[in-house]
Amino acid sequence: MGRLDDKVAIITGAASGMGLAGAQIFAREGASVVLTDVVEDKLNKAVADIKENGGTAAAMKLDVADPAGWKDVVDQTVKLYGKINILVNNAGTHNSAGILDTDLETWNKVMNIDSTGVWLGMKAVIPIMQKNGDGSIVNTSSIGALVGGNGNGAAYSAAKGAVRSITKFAAQEFGKDSIRVNSVHPGVTFTSMTKKFFGTQKSNDDRPGMTFTKSVGASTKEEMSKVQKGNAVLPPYVADASDIGYAYLYLASDESKFVTGEELIVDGGYIINS
Ligand SMILES: NC(=O)c1ccc[n+]([C@@H]2O[C@H](COP(=O)([O-])OP(=O)(O)OC[C@H]3O[C@@H](n4cnc5c(N)ncnc54)[C@H](O)[C@@H]3O)[C@@H](O)[C@H]2O)c1
Repeated sequence: MGRLDDKVAIITGAASGMGLAGAQIFAREGASVVLTDVVEDKLNKAVADIKENGGTAAAMKLDVADPAGWKDVVDQTVKLYGKINILVNNAGTHNSAGILDTDLETWNKVMNIDSTGVWLGMKAVIPIMQKNGDGSIVNTSSIGALVGGNGNGAAYSAAKGAVRSITKFAAQEFGKDSIRVNSVHPGVTFTSMTKKFFGTQKSNDDRPGMTFTKSVGASTKEEMSKVQKGNAVLPPYVADASDIGYAYLYLASDESKFVTGEELIVDGGYIINS
């Protein structure tokens, strides 16, 4: 018996990192999983792997900032599986520029994907969940929504802060429909996002709290772990994508049926240490 038997889940940004880990875990736990992303080749491979391992999954291309794309994905999912029980708004993009260095184009891009995309996803899926009579939405925020600095930029922190607050707003608005809405706040996690970030940041970033922007070339988990030691308290100081996938699983499953509007921090103790 799986923890998500008979559930239908949509996960955004599922071609890599936490979204992919979540999709693999959800499929193992019995869900039918719709993996969406802008990167089609990796998405198709992820779905093929899940099917090879006995899971049920479909790939659908989706830019989360595109309302028409959301309509297509919701329509196709309902056609394929008849309902939607779970939405994980995981897709995201990162930028570490501060207030003065962020240009409007970057600001709008980060806000569109990381924040507007979450609202569009909820707007598209909630009417189906209302018809089902229940649902669970998990929105991926960040520790960047809770503390300043820590390597995140102005637009990213603002977007992830918006995810935190719209999660609570939606939880309040749709509790009457038995739709739960929670946010997950990962700390530094070993994914392509951090590989790029840790590997390429300029080393002369003297903004407060930007310890790991001095870590040029730290692109393996071991190297990142060394940089993060002292920031997080739990070895190896950097999360695996599956650590976040299991947080998604708890909030998606009926095990959390009385949990809504909550923020689940998965950061190896980063926040308590800052
Ligand atoms: N890695 C970390 O340390 C960390 C920490 C806190 C929060 N997060 C958040 O976790 C989430 C997952 O990130 P990750 O670390 O797995 O990174 P990742 O880069 O491995 O995965 C992000 C995925 O989102 C997809 N994506 C980007 N723009 C998109 C768009 N417009 N529409 C649809 N998909 C799009 C990418 O193609 C990619 O597959 C993001 O929201 C990120 O901001 C990551």
